[in-house]
Amino acid sequence: GQAAPAPAPLAPARPERDIAVVESALAAIRDDIGDCKRCRLCEGRTKIVFGQGSAGAELMFVGEAPGADEDASGLAFVGRAGQLLTDMIEKGMRMQRADVFIANVIKCRPPGNRPPENDEVSTCQPFLEAQIKAIQPRAIVALGATASKFMAKSGDPISRLRGRFSSWDGIPVMPTYHPAYLLRNPAAKKEVWADLRLVMDVLGMRSE
Ligand code: URA
Repeated sequence: GQAAPAPAPLAPARPERDIAVVESALAAIRDDIGDCKRCRLCEGRTKIVFGQGSAGAELMFVGEAPGADEDASGLAFVGRAGQLLTDMIEKGMRMQRADVFIANVIKCRPPGNRPPENDEVSTCQPFLEAQIKAIQPRAIVALGATASKFMAKSGDPISRLRGRFSSWDGIPVMPTYHPAYLLRNPAAKKEVWADLRLVMDVLGMRSE
């Protein structure tokens, strides 16, 4: 018969951290972004979407870019895709959304929700990198092709990247499908659920 798949190794435990220090590091990154005019996306945006969640998060989600609801509110993943992401976290992983950190590769909404251009990604990437460095999550989930290619540093399609960990500065990164894609293709939810279970494994969240 078929051998059982090898269990994923546990993500390393983190040293004790001072949440106030992480919070002030995040505030400093937000200050650095300021009223950003570093790329053309400043022209069409309403609000910069920094990302939000717990400074003590062990798990971080990285999406592509704000959509219309996020641009209006200034908060990441608050539209329909955001509601599905909340369900994935709370009903699926049995975590609280407030306990994770959610951010995007790009902090400003591209016109008409087009995918970000390469120069927009490279202009914005220092801020996401600084957020990850400040938070030091034990695992990262990359949502959709843009975030997955960026976080896995690969040009492979999302269908190839998903389901396997890569590493970002030693942090396990799981690429998976974007919740907006799942709204159009609900059949892909079972693959995303398999990916999220692997993430729960590296976080030591599954007892069975
Ligand atoms: N899609 C994303 O990738 N990010 C958001 O914040 C909202 C929708």
